[in-house]
Amino acid sequence: MAIQVKPSGGVCGAAILGVDLRRPLAPEDRAAIHAASRAHKVIWFPDQAMSLCDFETAGAQFGPYGEDPFIAPLPGHPHVIEVKRLADESGPIFAEAWHSDWSFLPEPPAATLLYGVTIPPIGGDTLFADLAAAYAALPTAMKAKIADLKGVHSARRGYAKDGAYGAADKGRSMTIVASDAALATQTHPLVRPHPETGAPCLFASMAYTIGIEGMAAEEGFGLLLDLFRHQAQPDFVYRHSWAPGMATLWDNRCLNHMATGGYQGHDRLLWRSTIARWGNTEGA
Ligand code: SIN
Repeated sequence: MAIQVKPSGGVCGAAILGVDLRRPLAPEDRAAIHAASRAHKVIWFPDQAMSLCDFETAGAQFGPYGEDPFIAPLPGHPHVIEVKRLADESGPIFAEAWHSDWSFLPEPPAATLLYGVTIPPIGGDTLFADLAAAYAALPTAMKAKIADLKGVHSARRGYAKDGAYGAADKGRSMTIVASDAALATQTHPLVRPHPETGAPCLFASMAYTIGIEGMAAEEGFGLLLDLFRHQAQPDFVYRHSWAPGMATLWDNRCLNHMATGGYQGHDRLLWRSTIARWGNTEGA
């Protein structure tokens, strides 16, 4: 069956039909999926019914795995972490703040693959903000102001020992390992061209961008808050609803994302793998 791409109708996002991720993808299908990812930024594959081994093999078809700092992988599955919340958990929702995965690394990962294992009957959507659309809509004066600025990224707000998932975070079912390594910082241009499409993206997020290089803390944070508010406007956001067996692949280079709650009293479990970069899909 030929691959079908069904756009969400929103700023980004498309369903990909006619793909069985449990089987090796033909080169032309992998190229079509890569092209759909470039065009739609977040793509999803419904009805995959994957085992954990299927999921781990599926992820490797897109490119080499990247690292997952601060979250222990599943035993025997070094490239899979669980995004998990039990029905009676009461702490803050994991990842309920805008972010681009692991943007505090020197080379943040290209993509993330997330698979719905247990999906609650209500709530638990994931929001995606299109950073290329957000940049394009900035006023000219703001584009000029930020053109040469670098954001300072760090994992400290979440993963330092005194961070949101640190020592004071009790009763969480996820295996988060907070550490002093989260205090490290890494700069990236605020306006970061997408390496494949060249589209300038507004690469900063509330979770991981803690300042602006060379700018006083208060001034930098004020500017960042303006940019965070801009990115999160409804025109740039697509709301993704999950179903069991759905695998969703997003491009961290042009999207921020965040989890949402609204499913208290229900379990939620997804498997997640980080894709360092796309493998070669040329010549397919
Ligand atoms: C994540 O940021 O990987 C989690 C997204 C979600 O739980 O919806």
